[in-house]
Amino acid sequence: MKKKNAEDELIIEDITDTAPDLVVDEGTAPKEKKGKRRSKNKHKKEEAKQEEAKPEETEREEAKTEETEPDEAEPVSEDVAVNTKADPEEIAVSSKEDPNQGNAGKKEEEPVGEIVIDMKNIVKRYFIGQPNELEVLHGIDMQVRRGEFVAIVGQSGSGKSTLMNMIGALDRPTEGEYTLDGVDMFKAKDKDLSAIRCKKIGFVFQTYNLVARTSAQRNVELPMLYGGVPMRLRSRKAKELLEMVEMADRMKHQPDELSGGQKQRVAIARAMANDPAIILADEPTGALDSVTGRLIMDIFHRLHEEQGKTIILITHSPELASECSRILTLKDGLIIDERKGSGRRADN
Ligand SMILES: Nc1ncnc2c1ncn2[C@@H]1O[C@H](COP(=O)(O)OP(=O)(O)OP(=O)(O)O)[C@@H](O)[C@H]1O
Ligand SMILES: [Mg+2]
Repeated sequence: MKKKNAEDELIIEDITDTAPDLVVDEGTAPKEKKGKRRSKNKHKKEEAKQEEAKPEETEREEAKTEETEPDEAEPVSEDVAVNTKADPEEIAVSSKEDPNQGNAGKKEEEPVGEIVIDMKNIVKRYFIGQPNELEVLHGIDMQVRRGEFVAIVGQSGSGKSTLMNMIGALDRPTEGEYTLDGVDMFKAKDKDLSAIRCKKIGFVFQTYNLVARTSAQRNVELPMLYGGVPMRLRSRKAKELLEMVEMADRMKHQPDELSGGQKQRVAIARAMANDPAIILADEPTGALDSVTGRLIMDIFHRLHEEQGKTIILITHSPELASECSRILTLKDGLIIDERKGSGRRADN
């Protein structure tokens, strides 16, 4: 137990730089005991030892104790109706579906339903020194319904990432109204925003944002650690998610031992860790060649079609954008165009 805490703490220290979406407020962070930071080599050795030599018997016994002893995560304020879907059993059940089975293992497709993202007149200003300020978003009105697959396109600097950061509660708008799945994002406290990021949203970035010197499997486990999922279930679910993105054979590899496409597949598996209803992807194929980008887009289509995920995708690719159900064009901080897309993978 002590070993696990020290190792998790090391990772928690590392994520602040690499994975802003995983940075948690004190209220939602798992309570880990303070310990001395160990040397990298020692950390690596112990991780290797732990991963290599865990006989099945010990694992089974561990599971028994772990399942009755989940990691503590403080509850979110009651006034914020966060769907804490990190119920371990639920995760275990939903992850049993075999994505390779096509329609056989398919969840019933959620119809495009109620509004989950509701933005009105959103303005974002950056203060760049008194009295100057830079207004980047000038009044965005945007609504997204559950089960939609929306593309956001626009020139570099038009405000796409800024908007995405607002949607995903990584940053707060300066003015306007924003309700995310019924939660007033202006009224929500910082720790509530952390909880929303943890449970409701899966982030995928162009630069992957995986935690260095940490195996693919551990990277995928991280959001579950914050979600209070017991170790045994974290590990099982991470393996299943890595199988889903066809990365099972590389799960012990660290990010610097993986190609860009492989890293992005791990990042998608991590984004799915707490079974979020919404996936936000900021140029996920931007650093990849077109064939690998195609593979990544196909994973998003699967998540949309088979699991009914609501997906918002920022892309510079008109081809990929046209495969989404709706395309919003941003220009100079305003949505200037909205049109329908096919909503499905283009046939080659
Ligand atoms: N923290 C910040 N402080 C000041 N200005 C910022 C900050 N972050 C972004 N900006 C500015 O906001 C504008 C929009 O940036 P944003 O990153 O949202 O563009 P983008 O549409 O995502 O571009 P790209 O396609 O190149 O990623 C840019 O002019 C940028 O310089
Ligand atoms: Mg951007």
